[in-house]
Amino acid sequence: MSFDLVFFGGTGDLTWRKLMPALFQAFRHGKLPEGGRILAVARDEMPDERYREWLKERFREVEGSKRPSEEEFERFAAQVFYRRMDLSQPEHYQRLKEWLGERQADTVVLYLATSPHLFTQICEQLGAAGLNEPRVRVVLEKPLGHDLASAQQINKVVRSVFSESQAFRIDHYLGKPSVQNLMALRFGNALFEPLWHRESIANIQITLAESLGVGTRGPFYDGTGALRDMVQNHALQLLTMIAMEPPSSNDADAIRDEKLKVLRALKPFTPDSVARDVVRGQYRAGTVDGKAVVGYLDEAKVPADSRTETFVALRTEVQNWRWAGVPFYLRTGKRLAARDAQIVVNFRPVPHPIFPGANRPNQLVIKLQPEDGLELRLQAAKGGAHGEALAPVSLDLDFDKAFAADRVGAYERLLLDAIAGRLNLFVRSDEQEQAWRWVEPILDAWAQDPAGPRTYSAGSWGPPAASALVAREGFSWAEEQ
Ligand code: BG6
Repeated sequence: MSFDLVFFGGTGDLTWRKLMPALFQAFRHGKLPEGGRILAVARDEMPDERYREWLKERFREVEGSKRPSEEEFERFAAQVFYRRMDLSQPEHYQRLKEWLGERQADTVVLYLATSPHLFTQICEQLGAAGLNEPRVRVVLEKPLGHDLASAQQINKVVRSVFSESQAFRIDHYLGKPSVQNLMALRFGNALFEPLWHRESIANIQITLAESLGVGTRGPFYDGTGALRDMVQNHALQLLTMIAMEPPSSNDADAIRDEKLKVLRALKPFTPDSVARDVVRGQYRAGTVDGKAVVGYLDEAKVPADSRTETFVALRTEVQNWRWAGVPFYLRTGKRLAARDAQIVVNFRPVPHPIFPGANRPNQLVIKLQPEDGLELRLQAAKGGAHGEALAPVSLDLDFDKAFAADRVGAYERLLLDAIAGRLNLFVRSDEQEQAWRWVEPILDAWAQDPAGPRTYSAGSWGPPAASALVAREGFSWAEEQ
């Protein structure tokens, strides 16, 4: 299968930090279909050779084992081309069309790795130039909109030019092997499904914790905040995969229909429930991994009076028969104690304990990163003496170890899927809009709330109010147990 892959924003951060290295990995693994051309377009004028030199320089920053050798780079770079393109100029789209018309590749993937405010303009111009024929796919990077209205506006333009099956909206979490494993865990095994409901499960906790701060992304992050940056997309996608009904097949729409139903069943927020069930925080100076770090307000290019949240913890419910009344706690933040993404399914305690000591309910811990695995926490008798308390034991699976040779990174997987036209791991417009619809009352309530975010020390697990949120119902976060 031949393909032409075009990166708009060809000299931008995303292209050289994530996309080109991921594509190179696909190339190295022999997964990139033969006969492909990779075209980067951006504002500067430069011949192919200079772009390749520039890329080679950038690749020196790629992590050791993923860096190409001289010979590998030459072979990879032979497929890479560069063209100057002013995205506001219709004739430049015509030139792109001519370049793509030099041959009839089976698939053309147009990857918009530009600032999102250019998405509608680019799509309109692509449409005007006739660059929307069925073999064309458009890949859109987040953030897709800032709220429901802006997301709808982008989707309206995208849909006026492309059909939904041509639109590949990235949520890079869906490309992570550990996240794909959620589907395998639930729908490739018969073991858990009979327990996967309110009768057996007390609560579910989704944590996406980062130890990094905002780094050089201050201006972007300050206009975004943790709710838009991590909850509206990544955390909600994980929640849908945990809570969805079994899809009738592994087809993109069968899965996305079920995910959408979960989003529609999420309990809507009101100003009162935002005040009660949502905690926002902002980090102050502290210590992370033994190093002193500055607070958010002292990060580069962050306004000194910023009220942007760098932490969110919230409680929600999925209002349907399976999940009625089961709390789903979501939590994410920057400059937390550790980089740790995991989902903890807390089962109910045994109904009638007969052993002495604490009655510890079972837990299924789905580890997403940095480790990728599954831990099932059980109780066992040590066999020492009559009447002794049970001891906690766990079954611990390490998927990275088990499948090391087969695993590919998120962007590698997503790029290959976009080239192959597989939509399973991409977000449909109605899912994305429904997620915004659910998140928006939180943003509205915050805008009216003079209190602003609570503070927390860098290197902690967020404001104490996040612990109180779960303690209210007699639960605690995983690290507090
Ligand atoms: C991105 C956010 O979508 O996800 C970043 O914009 C965040 O702020 C990143 O750091 C986290 O991704 P990962 O793959 O490192 O968990």
